Amino acid sequence: MSEVTTQNALDLLIADHREAEELFEQYEKAKDAEKTKEKYEIARKVCAALLIHMQVEETIFYPAARAALEDEDLLNEAEVEHNGAKDLIKQLGETEADDPMFDAKVKVLSEQIEHHVEEEENELFPKLKKTDLDLDSLGEEMATAKEELKERLGA
Ligand SMILES: [Fe+2]
Ligand SMILES: [Fe+2]
Repeated sequence: MSEVTTQNALDLLIADHREAEELFEQYEKAKDAEKTKEKYEIARKVCAALLIHMQVEETIFYPAARAALEDEDLLNEAEVEHNGAKDLIKQLGETEADDPMFDAKVKVLSEQIEHHVEEEENELFPKLKKTDLDLDSLGEEMATAKEELKERLGA
């Protein structure tokens, strides 16, 4: 098992967000260079990373955030957005990499994730910082869960 580094919950999620953005950028470059196989590998990687990220948020982070915040609207919206992303990821799994719809699905997924990430980082996270939620111990719990999921999924 790889070393679990201690990061507070928000920094851990922000690092995941930057990683996903980086992968979507790499996808665009591979697409423009018509490197279909490479493009497909990057898509597979970003989908796996997003599924793990969403799972960690849904099982650990969002419940803790719900308990710490009065306002549930943001978290309800976040879960609806996750479902949209998961639906697109599922569709991508059923689409061939040389199908013209493959690029369209990745593009829409990246746009939806961009919007979702903005809401988390600009609305949800600042609100949570004002609560007494223990972001360090939450981060530790999330890092452990993330490693376990990675191992289980071979991601
Ligand atoms: Fe997130
Ligand atoms: Fe999320």
